[in-house]
Amino acid sequence: MTTPLISIATPNLDHLTKLDYEVVYDPAEDSFILLDALELDVPELRAGPSGRVCVEIGSGSGIVSSFIGSILGGTDALYLATDINPHATKCTLGTGLQNSVAINPILTSLTTSLLPRLDHKIDILLFNPPYVPTSLAEMDLTQNAPGIGSTWAGGEDGMDVTAVLLSQIDDLLSPIGVFYLVAIRQNKPLEIIASIRKKFEGRLDGKVALQRRAGGEMLFVLKFWRVQP
Ligand SMILES: C[S@@+](CC[C@H](N)C(=O)[O-])C[C@H]1O[C@@H](n2cnc3c(N)ncnc32)[C@H](O)[C@@H]1O
Repeated sequence: MTTPLISIATPNLDHLTKLDYEVVYDPAEDSFILLDALELDVPELRAGPSGRVCVEIGSGSGIVSSFIGSILGGTDALYLATDINPHATKCTLGTGLQNSVAINPILTSLTTSLLPRLDHKIDILLFNPPYVPTSLAEMDLTQNAPGIGSTWAGGEDGMDVTAVLLSQIDDLLSPIGVFYLVAIRQNKPLEIIASIRKKFEGRLDGKVALQRRAGGEMLFVLKFWRVQP
């Protein structure tokens, strides 16, 4: 097991209630592996310039955006956090306030209302997506009526929501951009990396940053970055 050089406190979520968690994702092992991957990269993340643009897709409770905010400094970057669930955007705002991170929640699907203005502007992109394999019908239903179902229903191979974002990352990432993505074994993480390398050859590269078993799931954090010329 790799030990982080610098440890970062888990964001305080005490303001969230049982009622919130009836409609918003309660952080679980998938959230925590993403925090752990970011924690391992603290020296690298802190070495970057100030004023970076940090975008989390599907922020839910806001735990991940608050965590990256604690790494970079609560007001030292522009923190944008999208979610399709209006309750999630409310919780994200509250979690930012609770943890002194100026998160700007945006009610939109993936990056819809950010494009094309944020083309090639995102320095740090984060996504813990709905990754559980389901029927396409179930995914469509939950994407159109956001709630707890849209936290996990991912369509075929659990990849239908993630695939849309993956098709955009070359347009989204800045010249120093990095992207952290949570996946499970059924999403075929090594194939995801291979397909990004192939599709954006010479422009984007990727690796498994962290992996671990949690109950019945094998969780991965994939990291993608710009290939420097
Ligand atoms: C697994 S939860 C992760 C929540 C939080 N980031 C965490 O790690 O605890 C997935 C989140 O993605 C959101 N989501 C699902 N589909 C989305 C979409 N098309 N655009 C934006 N957010 C989406 C869900 O509402 C949910 O908050």
